[in-house]
Amino acid sequence: MEVVGTNLPHPVAKFLVPDVIFGIGVLSEVGQAARRQGAVHVLVVSDKGVAEAGWTSEVLRHLTEAGVSAELWDGLTPNPKDHEVAAGCGAYLESGCDVLVAVGGGSCIDAAKAIAVLATGAGQNAGGAGNAGIAGYAGVGKVTGPLPPTVMVPTTGGSGSDVSQFCVVTDTERRSKITIGARALVPDISVTDPRALTTVPHDITAYTALDVLSHAIESYLSLAASFLTDTHALTAIRDVCEHLLPALDHPGDLQPRERLARSSLQAGLAFSNALLGATHAISHQLGGLTDLPHGLLNAILLPHVMEFNAAVATSRLADVAGAMGLRTGLMTPQEAADAAIQTVRAFAGKAGLPTTLREIGVDCSQLDHVARSALCDAYIVTNPRPVDEADARAICQAAW
Ligand SMILES: [Fe+2]
Repeated sequence: MEVVGTNLPHPVAKFLVPDVIFGIGVLSEVGQAARRQGAVHVLVVSDKGVAEAGWTSEVLRHLTEAGVSAELWDGLTPNPKDHEVAAGCGAYLESGCDVLVAVGGGSCIDAAKAIAVLATGAGQNAGGAGNAGIAGYAGVGKVTGPLPPTVMVPTTGGSGSDVSQFCVVTDTERRSKITIGARALVPDISVTDPRALTTVPHDITAYTALDVLSHAIESYLSLAASFLTDTHALTAIRDVCEHLLPALDHPGDLQPRERLARSSLQAGLAFSNALLGATHAISHQLGGLTDLPHGLLNAILLPHVMEFNAAVATSRLADVAGAMGLRTGLMTPQEAADAAIQTVRAFAGKAGLPTTLREIGVDCSQLDHVARSALCDAYIVTNPRPVDEADARAICQAAW
């Protein structure tokens, strides 16, 4: 029997997702989550800001109540560095830990993943990656696992790293960020309690939300997008556009914070499986060079990359405009795409963010290096429009 339609292209869709626990008050489940992973003694990876807000001690208490002993390691800074994760790996191995629990923003979660990679020495035999430290695992598929079990507790509405198969670490020798991608990096359990977002300061709330918006838009436009990722990307765009400004105006109000936490989760599910594009490829290089906040760099670059991609992604950008709540019914696809770009530009301004790289101290002489190295980033290959060095330089200059 002939199967009708077999001559049409049918792209394969894959979708990896951890065990997800989401809701107000679910932090109390972290102890049982660690126990389900066989935890006896866990390393809690966190930072001082999260500890001051009280979330680290609450997690430690829930672990103790579940009969799990824990050790705190908080020796990392924003944009986690290669030597910091090496030190964290030392702490993990020396204390005989068996599970990693990260409590914090993307930096803490990425650091926990990198510690897991180093602790296992995964892939070392295959490619000698272990000899080069964490930088030896840069790229996709070099980590073969299995890794130590991980429980991720995000406390900002941003990185999506708690559900993704990627981690980003700063290579301090090359002053660049490396992206490591592997199925083994998908955490075992993600526990999101939106209460944690109520203690995030104004600027970090804006940065992380713009990071979420760039995850959602870049994954929706990605060459690897599928029906399984599209739905999460569009819902995340809607939620972040609707709830960021109320969250900034009323920081203690749980309702908009809960929606930002959802948008972070859904954008994370989308980009983990569809990957990203030129915004992240360029911002990783700028971040490695300058240590500026990741979400802020994305906020500035995103509208320029959308403009660059508009020539090949008009209808997808028109969908983005619809998800943003714009009245696109009487617009042509081109007009709707333009409206989406203008909305992103205005949105960052309304959130109080600078809109040029110059304003945040990026030196014009750095842009050539950034453009060159962006072409080596893992996310450049899924940008919908091919990017060469001149294109990347033009995007950087437009954003400067
Ligand atoms: Fe990001």
